[in-house]
Amino acid sequence: MVRRSIVAGIGSYLPERIVTNAELAARIDTSDEWIQERSGIQQRHIVADGEMTSDLATCAAQRALAAAGMEPDDIGIIVVATSTPDETFPATATVVQSKLGCANGSMGFDVQAVCSGFVFALATADNFIKVGQVDTALVIGAETFSKILDWEDRSTCVLFGDGAGAVVLKAGEGDGSSADRGVLSTHLHSDGRLHDLLYVDGGPSSTGQVGHLRMEGREVFKHAVTKMSEVTIEALEATGLHADDIDWFVPHQANRRIIDGTARKLGITGERVVVTIGQHANTSAASIPLALSVAVEDKRIQEGNLVLLEAMGGGLTWGSGIVRW
Ligand code: ACO
Repeated sequence: MVRRSIVAGIGSYLPERIVTNAELAARIDTSDEWIQERSGIQQRHIVADGEMTSDLATCAAQRALAAAGMEPDDIGIIVVATSTPDETFPATATVVQSKLGCANGSMGFDVQAVCSGFVFALATADNFIKVGQVDTALVIGAETFSKILDWEDRSTCVLFGDGAGAVVLKAGEGDGSSADRGVLSTHLHSDGRLHDLLYVDGGPSSTGQVGHLRMEGREVFKHAVTKMSEVTIEALEATGLHADDIDWFVPHQANRRIIDGTARKLGITGERVVVTIGQHANTSAASIPLALSVAVEDKRIQEGNLVLLEAMGGGLTWGSGIVRW
C-alpha cells in the first residue's frame, strides 16, 4: 500500500468587481475585438481598494474546508502559491492561517513559481503527505496581479485578473497504480536562463520597489505550447496513462490560443478541456484551482475522474500533475 493525497474539498473566490474589455478600451488604446481574438479574454475580476491576496485566499480556503467538512485546525500544512503576497514578509500562508483562526501551530509557507505556482504547491503538499509528515493540507493559489501590472502597457495589462482557489488534501491509501484516487504524479521544471521573457522589474533587494510585470509575449507563447506539451507527456508516460484516459484537461489559463494549441498537440478534444480564461483572464497561480472549482461546481468533474493539470510561468517554471478526483 502507498500513501496518496486525496482531494477532500475545493473552493474559490473572485473579487466582486468585473472589468470588461470595453472598460479597458475606454482607458487605453485597445479593443474588445483585439483582446478576444488574441487571448480569448472577455472580462477579469479586480480587487477592491484594501482587498488583499490573503483575503481572497482565506475566502477560497474557507469554502474548500466547508466542502471537505473540515475545520481550520484539522489542517497540517498550508501552502500558498502566490507572486503577489500582501507583504514582502511574512508569507501570505501565515496571514491566511491567522485569518482562518488556526491555532494548532501547523506550518504555513508560500511557494513562488508564478503561473506554475499551484502545481508546485500541490507537489510540495503531496510530498509532505506522502512521507507521512502531515495527514492534511490546504493548497491555495491566490493572486492580485492587478497590483503589479503597468496599466499603461496595453500588451500586458489586458491579460490578467485577480482571484483565488483552494484545495484540501487528505492522506489516503492506494495500491500504487493509476487506478488510485489522489495525486498520481507531479513533474516540475525551471530554467532561470529564460528570466527576461517574463519578470517583474522590481523587488526588495533590487529596486526596493514592487515593480511591474514585463513580458516578451511572442517568446512566452512559443515556450508555453512546447513546454506544457512536453511536461504533460512526461506525466502520462510516468503514470502509464494515455491522453485518451484523461477525463478533464485543466490547463493554466494563460491564453485561449495556448490552451487550444497544447490540447491539440496532446490530442485532447475540446469537450474535455476546462476553459475559464474568458471570464477570469489569467490569474496566474490561482487559475488552475479556479478552473477546477468551476468544473467541480457545475458537476463536470466527478469523483473517480482523471484530471490532467499543467502550467508555465515566469522563471521560466513549468509543471504538470495528474490527479484522480
Ligand atoms: N490592444 C491592441 N493592440 C495591441 C495590444 C492591445 N492590448 N497589445 C499589443 N498590441 C499590438 C502590438 O503593439 C502590435 O502592434 P504592431 O504590429 O503595430 O507592432 C500587435 O498588436 C501585435 O503584437 P504581438 O505582441 O505580436 O501580438 P501577438 O499576436 O503575439 O499577441 C499576446 C500578444 C496576446 C501577448 C501573445 O503573444 C500571447 O498570448 N503570449 C503569451 C503571453 C501569456 O500568455 N502570458 C501570460 C503569462 S505566462 C503564462 O501564463 C504562460
